[in-house]
Amino acid sequence: MTERKANIAVLVSGGGTNLQALIDAQISGRLASGQIRLVIANNPEAYALQRAEAAQIPGKVITRKDSGSQEVFEEAICEMLEAYDTDLIILAGFMSILSASFTKRYEKRIINVHPSLIPSFCGKGFYGLRVHEAALAKGVKVTGATVHFVNEVPDGGEIIMQKAVSVCEGDTPEVLQQRVMREAEWIILPAAAEKVCAEIISKETKG
Ligand code: GAR
Repeated sequence: MTERKANIAVLVSGGGTNLQALIDAQISGRLASGQIRLVIANNPEAYALQRAEAAQIPGKVITRKDSGSQEVFEEAICEMLEAYDTDLIILAGFMSILSASFTKRYEKRIINVHPSLIPSFCGKGFYGLRVHEAALAKGVKVTGATVHFVNEVPDGGEIIMQKAVSVCEGDTPEVLQQRVMREAEWIILPAAAEKVCAEIISKETKG
């Protein structure tokens, strides 16, 4: 009998380096309790789609613009998630806020990686490079990354893992972003995914 793994869908918008970290963790066995079955991009140009293709993972494009409304957009995502029997949704640089009705439907089944130590530099308007610009403007000496469950409050769900990263003299937002990814995001996202997948499987076995 093959061992049951949690079915993972990864939602992306851009470069997909966090998706790559998940794929690499799956190959190396660090992500053992889950299997990436599907990648959904809300942007047809997302390089993450090429990473999915190279790893032979189905990649689908669902855009808010083509959907016409947030409701239709989310319904299309849900249909795809159901078609792939998704157990866990991972937001890996997904730059679209999901509605409360979506997040309620998947309570404790959506995780997100955010490039700061929440509750600093998070919430509406804080995404991508903007987070690092704000951290440098404030003059913090330590920043980092957080993986958390997603609920109706942007970046407000329960924290699963965090890792601190030093800010260095002369850092630009781009340099800091790369360090936070390399030293924190690419490490804690696969680790948190493994933790949550293992919990999903263990709850099933216990009934
Ligand atoms: C990552 O730094 C991720 O933490 C951030 O966008 C980048 C995506 O990079 N996400 C957010 O800001 C969400 N609020 P990637 O496409 O290379 O993984």
